[in-house]
Amino acid sequence: MSSTPGGAATAEQVAAAFSDNKLAQVLYHDWEAQTYDDKWSISFDERCVDYARDRFHAITGTPDPLPYGTALELGAGTGFFSLNLKRAGILDEVHVTDLSPGMVEAARANAESLGFTVQGRVADAERIPYDDNTFDIVVGHAVIHHIPDVEAAFREILRVLKPGGRFVIAGEPTTVGDWYARQLGRVTWKATTAITHLPPLRDAWAKDREALDESSRAAALEAVVDLHTFDPQALARTAFLAGAVGVRTRTEELTAAFLGWPVRTFEAAVKPGALGWGWARFAYGSWKRLSAVDRVLARAVPARFFYNVGITGVKPG
Ligand SMILES: C[S@@+](CC[C@H](N)C(=O)[O-])C[C@H]1O[C@@H](n2cnc3c(N)ncnc32)[C@H](O)[C@@H]1O
Repeated sequence: MSSTPGGAATAEQVAAAFSDNKLAQVLYHDWEAQTYDDKWSISFDERCVDYARDRFHAITGTPDPLPYGTALELGAGTGFFSLNLKRAGILDEVHVTDLSPGMVEAARANAESLGFTVQGRVADAERIPYDDNTFDIVVGHAVIHHIPDVEAAFREILRVLKPGGRFVIAGEPTTVGDWYARQLGRVTWKATTAITHLPPLRDAWAKDREALDESSRAAALEAVVDLHTFDPQALARTAFLAGAVGVRTRTEELTAAFLGWPVRTFEAAVKPGALGWGWARFAYGSWKRLSAVDRVLARAVPARFFYNVGITGVKPG
């Protein structure tokens, strides 16, 4: 069973997805594929190139010569991480993969509109359909929290990496961060939907009933597809047990997450197109200023309190 990319999952599909996690992943992400870039304010301009490059360097500390020749992205979605890293000059030949065919199509379309030639394939990160020792680097962003067996995925990543090759996974939720992000999201959703349905605001700002019902179905599936949150030390141990060396984790976003999650929830709760790219730039500018504060706070606040965790490691040479 599969959904139409861009089309809503039916109530029966949602019910079936509760007993089949991989089906849930495909339905949910196929469904999101056509609207994903708008939902997350994803673009391939300076704002997102900077974001991707900064996350990459924060995690790796830039130890290797650039660019990496052959790169694989797992759970690429619409190509946010690898296409922006290619624009940043960090990756050269990019292969985008995802469990969701709709996402692979969207990533291919984004690559084409950027004038890039990329290879795209449907692939499960637990069984990567590439030969041993193929890639110089494997990257991922916001993906391993969807994968049932994270250690198996790390073993697969190490298998397809060349000896000495590196993996960089960014944007995963910490356990503490996920808790406060969900609380903030819940409160913001309630307040925004209540306020935007007041008569003076309704026409310009409120999502219609059908769109809100669709969002509720999405939220139900989201609870099924989000499988893990991570303690940074435990995540590092998982990669180490899979066979990686030089493993390092890095957490980011504390006050930036206190702003970021209400902002993202607000964006999702209002009528599509009501905010525009001026808003996206304002939100990103505020997020960047608070991220600078967070880098100072990181000297005193334990890593596990930050929202995002990234991890890098190397296949033994
Ligand atoms: C939260 S989205 C992130 C997409 C993209 N990396 C980004 O940051 O915009 C997670 C992606 O992981 C994919 N995914 C879920 N389970 C997967 C699996 N087992 N193997 C590969 N991709 C998977 C989903 O289809 C989805 O596109």
